[in-house]
Amino acid sequence: MTTPPDTLKPLREFVGAFATLLDGAPAEPALVVAGSRLLAALVARDDWLPPECAQPDARHYQQYLLHVDPQERFSVVSFVWGPGQATPVHNHTVWGLIGVLRGAEFGQAYAVGAGEPRPLGPEHRLEPGQVEAVSPTLGDVHRVRNAFDDRVSISIHVYGGNIGTIRRSVFAPDGTVKDFVSGYANARPPELGRD
Ligand code: FE2
Repeated sequence: MTTPPDTLKPLREFVGAFATLLDGAPAEPALVVAGSRLLAALVARDDWLPPECAQPDARHYQQYLLHVDPQERFSVVSFVWGPGQATPVHNHTVWGLIGVLRGAEFGQAYAVGAGEPRPLGPEHRLEPGQVEAVSPTLGDVHRVRNAFDDRVSISIHVYGGNIGTIRRSVFAPDGTVKDFVSGYANARPPELGRD
């Protein structure tokens, strides 16, 4: 019998490296620089995401939990866009890193306060391999959408907590703010195994 290929190795190594990074308790700017480098390396190749965590849904974009740190210092999620799908304007309340794995996405930052959310700067496009950061200090409110109307896009997100359980906010065009908890589309993350 031959051993099956260990397709999850890049993700497992990423999770290990990210945990080691956080063991050093870096300040946020250093964490964003080093964490973005790790995420850019992970999304530089598109041969490791389990197919069950890459499935679009016709109605809603999907968030599959890939890993949550045992101490909930960080979580890793695959964000799967069906054609033309978009988030509402929302925040995170913790730092977040977004790396495009497949397809492309558009991001638009917003300022929120009284009244309608106001776009901050131009909408920007992220291509495969590119990474951007959000956080309450860097700018935490944005809207993200699939750059394509005719195909699936996928990005890999890393957040400074167990993001699917965190109470955060969506900002409606009329200025209404609503609490939400995103949850995850899968009941449990893939088994990463060990080296
Ligand atoms: Fe977001």
